[in-house]
Formats: sequence, structure tokens, C-alpha cells
Amino acid sequence: MAFAGREEARPIADPEVISVNRLPMRSPLHGREGNPWFRSLDGEWSVMRYEHPADVPPEVFAPLFDDSHWRTIPVPGNWTLFGLGDEPHYTNVPMPWQGLPPTLPEVVPTVVHRTVFPMPARWSGRRIILHVGGAESVHTVVVNGSRAGYGTDSRLASEYDVTDLLHDGDNSVVIMVSRYSAQSHVEDQDQWWMAGLHREVHLRAQAPVHIEDVRIDAGLLEDDTTGTLRVLTTVGTNGGAPVPKGWTVRVEVTSPDERVLATMEEGVPHHTWPYVFNGHVARTECVIPRVRPWSAELPVLHGVTVTLVDDRGRDAETVHQRAGFRRVEIRDRNLLVNGARVMIQGVNRHDHHPERGKAVTVADMRADIVLMKQHNVNAVRCSHYPNDPRFLDLCDELGLYVIDEANVESHAWNTSLCHDPRYRATIMSRVSRMVERDKNHPSIIMWSLGNESGYGAVHDAAAAWVRAYDPSRPVHYEGAVYHEHHSRGGLPAADAVENWVEGGTGATDVVCPMYASIESIVRYGTSGRGARPLVMCEYSHAMGNSNGSLADYWHAFENTPGLQGGFVWEWKDHGISQVLADGTKRFAYGGQFGDTPNDGNFVADGLVHSDMAPHPAMREMAWCHRPVAVTLTGKGANARLVIRNRQSFRDLAWLRAEWELLVDGVPVRKGRLSVPKCPGGATVKAELPAAVPRGADDASVIVRWFTRNDEPWAPAGHLAAWDQVVLRAPLPAKQAAPRASASAAPHPVVGALEPAVTIWRAAVDNDGFKIMPDLMGFGGSLRRWTEQGVDIRGAELVDHVTKRTVTPDGVVHFRHTVRVPAHLDDLPRVGVTVAVPSRFVHLRWLGDGPHECYPDRRSSAMRSVWESDPDELPYLVPQEFGLRTSCDWFELVDPASGDALRFTSTGAPFHASALWHTAADLHAAHDQTVLVRRDHLTVHLDAAHRGLGTASCGPDTLPQYRVRPGTHVLQYRVELLRAD
Ligand code: GAL
Repeated sequence: MAFAGREEARPIADPEVISVNRLPMRSPLHGREGNPWFRSLDGEWSVMRYEHPADVPPEVFAPLFDDSHWRTIPVPGNWTLFGLGDEPHYTNVPMPWQGLPPTLPEVVPTVVHRTVFPMPARWSGRRIILHVGGAESVHTVVVNGSRAGYGTDSRLASEYDVTDLLHDGDNSVVIMVSRYSAQSHVEDQDQWWMAGLHREVHLRAQAPVHIEDVRIDAGLLEDDTTGTLRVLTTVGTNGGAPVPKGWTVRVEVTSPDERVLATMEEGVPHHTWPYVFNGHVARTECVIPRVRPWSAELPVLHGVTVTLVDDRGRDAETVHQRAGFRRVEIRDRNLLVNGARVMIQGVNRHDHHPERGKAVTVADMRADIVLMKQHNVNAVRCSHYPNDPRFLDLCDELGLYVIDEANVESHAWNTSLCHDPRYRATIMSRVSRMVERDKNHPSIIMWSLGNESGYGAVHDAAAAWVRAYDPSRPVHYEGAVYHEHHSRGGLPAADAVENWVEGGTGATDVVCPMYASIESIVRYGTSGRGARPLVMCEYSHAMGNSNGSLADYWHAFENTPGLQGGFVWEWKDHGISQVLADGTKRFAYGGQFGDTPNDGNFVADGLVHSDMAPHPAMREMAWCHRPVAVTLTGKGANARLVIRNRQSFRDLAWLRAEWELLVDGVPVRKGRLSVPKCPGGATVKAELPAAVPRGADDASVIVRWFTRNDEPWAPAGHLAAWDQVVLRAPLPAKQAAPRASASAAPHPVVGALEPAVTIWRAAVDNDGFKIMPDLMGFGGSLRRWTEQGVDIRGAELVDHVTKRTVTPDGVVHFRHTVRVPAHLDDLPRVGVTVAVPSRFVHLRWLGDGPHECYPDRRSSAMRSVWESDPDELPYLVPQEFGLRTSCDWFELVDPASGDALRFTSTGAPFHASALWHTAADLHAAHDQTVLVRRDHLTVHLDAAHRGLGTASCGPDTLPQYRVRPGTHVLQYRVELLRAD
């Protein structure tokens, strides 16, 4: 054997070796179905794990090595999920090991993957390319015992020409993957460290003269109807021989309904005079009148068919691509798509599946996009690396604006690695290879240089390369603005408006801060300074029960020049399915695989649960992003509905509107709303559909918008937007003090209730990290509360008086007066908790709903009479959940008898919840497996409840949503309503 693992270990430790024998990057061009020149190597591969690449014995690379005693695992797959004794490891910022880059840990788990494939008979004489879709961290390919190549960048494909290594009959392919490498220092994203061949592996057979690459530049002129198309077809030859004379390229452009719009033909140039030779690139260009432009709202795709024609006029090879005609520009602090200032309603998305890890399937990707579109998401940031190209195909097709981000993150060495010359080549290569691969996707509107990797000359260099290669898309890099200040000796600052004005222009065309406060972004916007629009690359950290003030952000985005939305952090929790020794199943977070150091449940900060169940905040996001908004203008007979089309391009005809008139929260009339024609961005008025009945003093109209027909991402009848407009606001309850009756006896169920004053809630992640107290600096409130004893002593810390009165009708009236001293400013809540008998298991209320809502996350809620079963914990780590705000009354219903235990406010509306757990149970449990459900519901009625904010990463709850010192009064009556 010519080499052994020891020798292979050397490039792994050297950051400057970024590839050996790897072919240049190209766009994926070739179909799989029915293509005789394509062969997938996906499936079960034999695997063996070693502690270090140097431990790998040479014989395992030999074609005839007997691996029958090895285990098999699927490719694509992460071996960390298949019980090879090497578990997932989660860290956010720190590397899993100590030491300056490029230090490696002592143990570098390395898995040798082996498979065999029979050479297809028809392939002889062709050039055969082996494609490794993604290997974490680095890989070495050995074919029939000979080294074929070495590749880095775990999120982009590596391709190797293996023609000379193959023979007839069975061929052995061995891929050695090492989990860590010098490259890991630029792959330090906040996610699980996984390992393995997580994307497809396949072979392609190319004819001696073939289409090597196609570049499509589809533009849209200022008239917004004329398309421009430039197609550059690179022709390749086996072994780099000159392309024979007489070969041409034919390009055919077709409309979405497959009409031919243009045909172009161009000869393939020859390098007869090397000095002026521009490559074997056939350049074709045309202008196409009256195209339908591409946008995320109307993702119209045209066909581009490229055919290589030989010197005898015969079609030698054909590839099909899709093109979207569109224009992206930055003008006067606006990011424009097709001339319109589109609002970025985005989310950050990682590849994650609880069982498959990074090896997500096309169905998984589609499911993500469908659910995003159903929640009015129009943009995705590929945080923080290029995805499988098929994800981008789906974004083109279903309509999402994409920030494609290079796989560069050196968070642990945030401010130094970018200045390390040994990492210069890998950073440049990661950025440029991404752009070269993904250039043809209309969905991509910006290129991102990576995430949290400081700011150095290498970023300016990478940005310059991108701008020269592709002037049609702006460059995005958060670190350029954040670190500009730091690189001049100051401290990094998230809210440094001065930096935003002119910082980092060398590496970013947009101001794209993360987690900045509303106050600071508004200050930037209204300053009128700076030439760049502000799009938040991350905001509203969705960890646990979170996303407070999302609607406040949207109010700022929509009402401040220069602000254009942003990307919520993040789409999905990264919990991993785990079966414990006793058979219990859970979604594991950092540390639950014995991984140290770790950042616990910081890995679970998604809008959707690991199993894709949407968290309640998704309703709020869907509302903030809704395509159409309805408000009220005028009063009395002059009142009108104002209908604002929040889309940029699409009119409202794809939606049908239904109205409902509510009196005292109960729908009394409903119908279809007739909506005047309303193009994208326009506002129209409509008559109020119904008059408020005489005498009603609590009346509102809810308008709901449903998809009229099936959309590619939702069936007809999907609820896309809703608003409630108040016609008459309920008057504050004015009740005379109840008069006691000595003889009256409440129903025993009511009489037995003992509401107790409480000021504690099970801390949400934004309050502080109970699992990671060392990280508490993030939240802050939890530390303060525990120091004050709010968690243990609770109501003992405040003066409180409860007055209980039984009136002659047997109704029990409570009035709790709670005085919060100044030093206890900003408590979790002020209210009562009461256990109810176990037969009352169903809920009904008049208040905000139907979904969970909090004082700073309730714009999406509607005030009505709602009913539901009690919520189940929607979050990975147990914490406060299930609140409904501003209730007039809250009922616990016994479904068997129909009896209802009703709490009715006799003062200001209260916030309420009814859960199978107490606050103490929730707070004590570190994961769902240890949370025991009680046999009865625990009800909370709150006079005040702290908003959620986003302090787990970002601004804390805004002052107006905090629980203030002073006197809080909660008063209500309790009665048993008999069904008969
Ligand atoms: C950002 C980072 C993300 C994630 C987030 C917190 O700093 O870019 O990757 O770590 O914070 O969840």
C-alpha cells in the first residue's frame, strides 16, 4: 500500500491544504431520473471508526479488504447518530477543545466508509466524476486502492476525476472522513458537531466533449417587463484537450407554459492563440420582451435548455436549467427587488432533523419551506452555510428570497482568525465556490461571506471577488459592521449606529446587525445617514417561550425609512431523538449525550419544535408577516375598513375574505367581504359589512383571508391573514362591592377553592438559563429573582390582602390587593394560583386567543369566546407556558356533566392559564422526561404578567411590558354553572 492513515492525517491538520485533486466548482446541471450517465452511490456503506486518522491501518483502503465484519450505516448520514460510540456534541461559541487554531484535539474520530459498485458497461470511454456532496469535517477519497483526492468545506460538494482509477467490473470506493480538522476552526457555528457523509455521493459519466458548466444571468430592465438573458456555457474535454473545431452551443429559452421565446447559437471558441483565449466558453445573449418577472410572491420560472452540438450538427448533450428574470438593487437606503422595496419577512434556517441530523432529505427541505410559506415567511438566510442545492431549487420554485451564506464561522476566535494568513485561502475558497455553485438561482438575492468571523482584509478581498464575479447581487456580512469599530481599537458593539452609517462598506452592501434594539434601529433609520438599507440578519431569538415584541419590531420596520425587516433566529429547534436506558424517549439538547463543554438547550431556539410542531410564536410571526392588513378608519356611519395589500407585487385576488361580527366576543353575523381590486402595495377601502346591533357595547369585526385556490405550498382554504377591528370597546367593569350574606353557602366545589397569591412563574429561557447558570448573564432576571427569593418565598415578599365574600346567590367574590415594594420592581407576575378538581379538564374563555399569548406577544390574538383542551408543554425545556391575556372570564369545564367552574373578572380583565403542572413543577424539571403531569389542573389568574422579550439573546422585555411596583388589584367572582 502506497500510503497509510498517518500520511493522510497531515493535510487534516494543515489549514492551508484545502483540497487535493478536486475539480473546480460548477453548478449542478444533471438530472438523476432516467439519466444513464448518473449513478447514485447512496445506500448502506461499511464503516469502521478509529480514534485518529493516524490509527487507520493501510489495508482498509485496499480494494479486496474484507470488511464483512464491519457495521453498515446509511449514506447520506451522520455517523454520530448511529451508535458508533461517537456522539453528537453541542457548543455555541467555544470550540469543543482548547488551543489556538489550527490546534486539533487528541482524539479525532475518523470513520472509514467503504462501498463497491459495478462499472456500467456503457460508461467506458467516458470521463467519470465522483461527487461527494458533503463530508463533515474533511475527507480523503481512495478508489481501487489509489488516492483520488482530498476535500474540505463540509457544506459544499467536492468532485474528483476518477476515470483513470476505475476498471471494468467491481470498483471499490473508500472515503475516510475525520470529524475534526484544522478547518473546524472556520466551521464553529452554533449547532451540533456531527460527522460523516451527510449529503449524497454519486458518479457521473461525461462524454469526451461535454458541457462543463452553465452560467445564467437573467435580468429585468427598468420597465419591469423586458428580460435580459446571458448564458455562458463552458465546454469541457477529457484531459483538457482542445475542443474540436465546428462544435457549437444552442440555447433555447421557454416560457413557463413551454413556448419557445428565443433560440441562440454560438460556436465554441478555440485556443489557437493562447494569449487571447478566454476559455471554451460559448457566450449567448438575448433580450426577451414581456417576460413575467420572478419574485418570492410570484416565482415565475422560465426554461433554459442548453445543447452542445458536434461538428456534424448532431446534438451531443443537453441540460435543462431554470431562470427567473429579476433585478436586485440598492438605491437610496432601499433594497429593491424588481424596483419594489420588499420587506424581508425572514427566518434563519439550519439543516436539522431529529433523527437524520444534517442528512436532511428533499422531503424534509420541502416540508420546511411549505411550513414557512404557510406562516408568511418570504425569505430565508441559509445560516450559516450553503445548503444542498436542491433546497435552492425549492426556493426558486416555491418562492423565497435567499441569503446564501458561505460556510465560514470562527466564532471562538472571532476577532483573530480572519487575520491568520493560513486561513486566507480557505475563506476565499469557501465564498467563491459557493457563488460559483449557486449563481443560477433567482431566489438568491444576496451573498453572505459567512457569520461571526471578525472583520479582516480577507473579507474585503472575498467581497471584491464576489462583486466582480456577480455584480447583480449585493454582498452581506454582519461582522463587517459589527467589528469595524473593534478593528480600530474600540469594542465590538451591536447597537453602534455610528458603525452602521459607514462601517464595513468594504465587505457589506447592507447594514445587517443581529439582535439590535428597536430603539437603535429606529435611530439609524430616522438619522437619514448612511447609504445602506438595514435588514436584521438575526432578531427575535425564538428560544423557548419567546419572541416578545415581534410586533413592535414590525411596527418599527414598517414606519421607519431605511428599515426593511429581518430574519428571526431561528427556524427550528435542534433537539435530537434519544432513547434512554429505560426506553423513555426525548429530544436531547447539549450535554445530554455526555458532551462537554456544552451550551445546553441554547441549541433549541426555533420557531418550530424539533418534530416540526409550530411553537405558538409562529402565529404571531404569521400575523406580523401577513399579506394583507385590515384596520378601521372613521367613526359611526363613516367607519370604513382600510385594506392594505402588504405584498409588493401580487394583487389580493388569490385570497377570499370572510368577516365575522362579534358582540360580547360571540360571533353574531358573518359573510364574504367584497374587496375592490387591490394591487401589490396598494390600499383600498371597503364598507363595513354589518352594523353594530343596538345596545351592544362590545363589538368587533374579524376579517380572515383564505387562499382561494390551491397554492403550491397550501391547499385552498388556508388561513393566510387575519385582523380584528374594534367597533366598540368594552367598558371597564364597574361593579358595586359584593354584599355578603351570612346564610349563603357556595357550591362545595366553589367553596373549597383556595386561590393563593403568587408572584412567580417558571422561568422562561429569556428570564435566564436554569440549566446553564453560568450563562445567566444573558437573561438576568432569573438571577435577580432567585437572589430576592421570588422563586422560594414568593408572595411572602409582598404585602397582600385577600377579601372573600359570599353573596346570597352562593357566588364567591375574591379581591386580592397586592403591594409590590419598589425594590421588587420587575417581577414575573402578580396573581393567584388555584388547584381545581380533577373533573374540570376543558377550557372556555372570553379573552385573547385562540393561541397562547403574552402581554408583548398578542397582536395575533383575537378577542372572542374560545374553547380548547389545556395546552401541552410546547417547549423543549419546561418553563412557563399557556397564558391567555385579557380575559373577562375563564371557565373550567367538566365534559361529562357540562358543568363549568367560571372565574369572571369584576375589575380589569385578567390573564389566565390552566395547566397540568404547577409553576414549581415546571421550573424544577430540566427536560420533559422528568415533568410529571398532575391529576388536576392548576389555574393562574394574573393581574399582571411580565412580557417575554428576547433576552436569551437580544433585548430584554421592554419597560412597558414589565410588572411594576405599586398596588395591583385582582378581583373576580367564582361560580359553578350547571349544565342543566
Ligand atoms: C448568533 C449566531 C447564531 C446563534 C445565535 C444565538 O450570534 O449568529 O448562530 O448562535 O446568535 O442563538
